[in-house]
Amino acid sequence: MSGTVRHLYVHLPFCAHRCGYCDFVTVVGREGLHGQYVDALLAELELERAVLEPRLETIFLGGGTPTLTEAGALSRLLGALPPAAELTVEANPETVTAELARFLREAGVTRVSLGAQSFQPRLLTVLERQAGPDDVRGAFYHLRDAKFDNISLDLLHGIPGQSASDLERDIEEALALGPEHISYYELEAKPGTRFTHAHGEELARQAEAMEGYFELVIEQLNEAGYRWYETANFCLTPARAGGRDVRARHNLAYWLGRDYLGLGIGAVSTLGAERRRNTPRLNTYLDGLDRGESPPREIEPLDENVRAQERVMLGLRLDIGLPFAAAKRSLDHAALSRLERLGLAARRAGGDGAETLVLTPRGRRLGGAVTAELLA
Ligand SMILES: C[S@@+](CC[C@H](N)C(=O)[O-])C[C@H]1O[C@@H](n2cnc3c(N)ncnc32)[C@H](O)[C@@H]1O
Ligand code: SF4
Repeated sequence: MSGTVRHLYVHLPFCAHRCGYCDFVTVVGREGLHGQYVDALLAELELERAVLEPRLETIFLGGGTPTLTEAGALSRLLGALPPAAELTVEANPETVTAELARFLREAGVTRVSLGAQSFQPRLLTVLERQAGPDDVRGAFYHLRDAKFDNISLDLLHGIPGQSASDLERDIEEALALGPEHISYYELEAKPGTRFTHAHGEELARQAEAMEGYFELVIEQLNEAGYRWYETANFCLTPARAGGRDVRARHNLAYWLGRDYLGLGIGAVSTLGAERRRNTPRLNTYLDGLDRGESPPREIEPLDENVRAQERVMLGLRLDIGLPFAAAKRSLDHAALSRLERLGLAARRAGGDGAETLVLTPRGRRLGGAVTAELLA
């Protein structure tokens, strides 16, 4: 594993405010700590540098709100990262000015993932978002003006109060911007949270409509020339993207079951036979690295069987499926025959002639339930 990891995730947790539905590791306030946090990230990078290849395939700066990070600290971080073919930054629309967009481009960022969520003011209020639809469009134009040619929009379906026509309007608005990539997530509301408490009944109604909503998203985006390449992810086909493959290369590495290193609070790494999860506590993280020590972290051993099963679960999310030979020993073969007969799974010749296991579009829409049945 030493010196062979080609994918790096960096967590920038600061947010101006916590959106009701969000379950990510975030820190609200503590503005004075941005510089110290970036110092700690760079110290952690030095401690881990030996596992990384000198040139990376992908780096992903996720949050939190990476674009809220104080400009000097963000610039220091971007300047110290190893070179990478794809460098993505997650951005909140209300933070994207013309100046920030130019700064990101000049700092070598190749791709921006913009958290739109919806274009309906009413639904953005339910989500407690700070950006309105005009902020989303404005941010998108600033990024285009700064010559970003790979922009992704994050959108949600299943928002309390969202009707099918709201969803259609969101899809139309997103398509009008012409992003290269769209992530369309189903809103997950954790039981016991303030959000779930406030919107319980409406969330139950949404859950019933969810399958229909998901189908609507897939159908409309396919019709508009987007490839449904992963359960929740769509990208322009090469014919529509100037011959480029604009799938999210970083996320693709996760779905292909590759190793990756994660830096920052709450960050996860999967390295050979172990998965690590850094402490989510900001002070504990800062104190550890200030002493020159790795941050406290949970370590989960992963044997080859577990990794093989995870590769099947993740690989079946992709339209390309996964090599059958690699999946074979993790599968319940009686279940596979049954699912093939039901038209939910299929074996096909892959591009290189080797047999590939895929879920059919119907199987992919049902997703986790089909995969769970397939696993031995
Ligand atoms: C980690 S967030 C960071 C992005 C950025 N801070 C923002 O909110 O615009 C990345 C994406 O995860 C998705 N997300 C966050 N909470 C979610 C939830 N409870 N269910 C489904 N998707 C969620 C949102 O679409 C969001 O844009
Ligand atoms: S801005 Fe993004 S990361 Fe921050 S709380 Fe809202 S959804 Fe979560």
